[in-house]
Amino acid sequence: MAKEHPHIVIAIDGPAASGKSSVARVLARKLHYVYVNTGAMYRAVTWLAIEKGVPPVDAVRVQQLLHYTEVTCGVRDGESTILLDGVDPADHLVSEAVNSNVSAIATLPDVRRLLTQKQRAFAFDYDVVMEGRDIGSAVFPETRYKFYVDASPEVRAQRRARQGLQDSIAARDKVDSSRRTSPLTIAEDAHVIDSSNLTVEGVVGEIFGRLKQKGLPLGEL
Ligand code: CDP
Repeated sequence: MAKEHPHIVIAIDGPAASGKSSVARVLARKLHYVYVNTGAMYRAVTWLAIEKGVPPVDAVRVQQLLHYTEVTCGVRDGESTILLDGVDPADHLVSEAVNSNVSAIATLPDVRRLLTQKQRAFAFDYDVVMEGRDIGSAVFPETRYKFYVDASPEVRAQRRARQGLQDSIAARDKVDSSRRTSPLTIAEDAHVIDSSNLTVEGVVGEIFGRLKQKGLPLGEL
């Protein structure tokens, strides 16, 4: 595939509460890359639909809503941001309502098309560590740096409970893995890491080792 973007993309995918967000954030900081949380983008659209009273399963109305909403992505303090008609929904993204509706929104092909386009645009301007469900398989299938961070269902449930959040991670995983458009899957050339018994630093260390092996210049890190 022709190289469309001049920047480096490190893709980190995995199921709910596998620890990929913490890992991606730490890795991005160390490398001085931008951390892009694509889950936050799907969550933002979900929040918007709930706010506007649009049922997340109503593909036509969600598409209309997006058509009339200005979706602006940017970077602040080294991390991705998303604004909807100028409003930053960051404080509402892990509410119970968003948790229980985000996977339905994420099945909608129009939503995925729009957000995938926004995600690719980050790599026109920045080196990125991007985390999600389909980054290595669908958003940047051409990148050489792909990781899939997993953990046992018990460990993942414990991690979410420790954050004090109500979240039906098993239900989300089921929808995310079985949807037609860009399901959660392990890209063929991804390096899989089971983080069940590893700290964030442990996972980041393993990723570093792999990046070095693949010849990514890491300087003194
Ligand atoms: O809570 P957790 O960190 O596991 O999830 P998240 O990364 O915030 O993603 C929330 C939801 O967004 C997922 O359950 C998926 O339904 C959807 N998502 C997606 O479909 N594709 C992505 N690249 C990222 C998230």
